[in-house]
Amino acid sequence: MAPFAPLSSGLFLLLSLIASSRACTCAPHHPQTAFCNSDVVIRAKFVGPAEVNQTTLLNQRYEIKMTKMFKGFDALGHAADIRFVYTPAMESLCGYFHQSQNRSEEFLIAGRLRNGRLHISTCSFLVPWLTLSPSQQKGFTKTYSAGCGTCTVFPCSTIPCKLENNTHCLWTDQLLQGSEKGYQSRNFACLPQNPGLCTWQSLRA
Ligand SMILES: *[C@@H]1O[C@H](CO)[C@@H](O)[C@H](O)[C@H]1NC(C)=O
Ligand SMILES: *[C@@H]1O[C@H](CO)[C@@H](O)[C@H](O)[C@H]1NC(C)=O
Ligand SMILES: *[C@@H]1O[C@H](CO)[C@@H](O)[C@H](O)[C@H]1NC(C)=O
Repeated sequence: MAPFAPLSSGLFLLLSLIASSRACTCAPHHPQTAFCNSDVVIRAKFVGPAEVNQTTLLNQRYEIKMTKMFKGFDALGHAADIRFVYTPAMESLCGYFHQSQNRSEEFLIAGRLRNGRLHISTCSFLVPWLTLSPSQQKGFTKTYSAGCGTCTVFPCSTIPCKLENNTHCLWTDQLLQGSEKGYQSRNFACLPQNPGLCTWQSLRA
């Protein structure tokens, strides 16, 4: 069996590489889903470079300047000022690496709270505020929250897809436009219409 050993360990390495790259495949999110599934949603500027935790070398943080909070008041209180976002220090662990050098640029950051700290990853919804459509900005500012807990944006990725529940809104951007940044994503929110019924509603002024 000896000659096979290198082969099988090579195969093992290959499989674990595949597994680790898969570990960071992100499911596409409608911005409303990102809002509802996050503990904290803020608008902020990145004001410093990544600082790697010198104790563990596994995590890093970025200093931010928060300019607005949209979600997280329950957990953090109304006077909260978040000064750092935390993320793994390696891409294979889905660490987020900030690209922009522009300290005046504002970002929408949707993340999770762990021990009072805001955590993000490459899969987090994190985009320059100005790249959001006016409807999306309105959604984050006030409208998406009305759908959380009641309505579900349900991704339809293959035909046929059927409505499983009246509280679902079928999200077809992936299918029809091959992008998570399609028409429903840019213009609509899934909101309660009547008890037990949710529908897509336009946020355009
Ligand atoms: C570095 O990691 C250790 C262990 O997880 C943690 O206790 C410590 O607070 C971290 N330091 C910073 C600056 O985040
Ligand atoms: C930095 O961002 C601000 C705000 O978005 C923008 O007005 C400015 O033009 C940007 N500067 C550069 C050098 O891109
Ligand atoms: C639809 O979803 C709601 C909330 O998740 C649930 O309570 C209800 O039982 C579901 N209805 C059907 C027909 O599956």
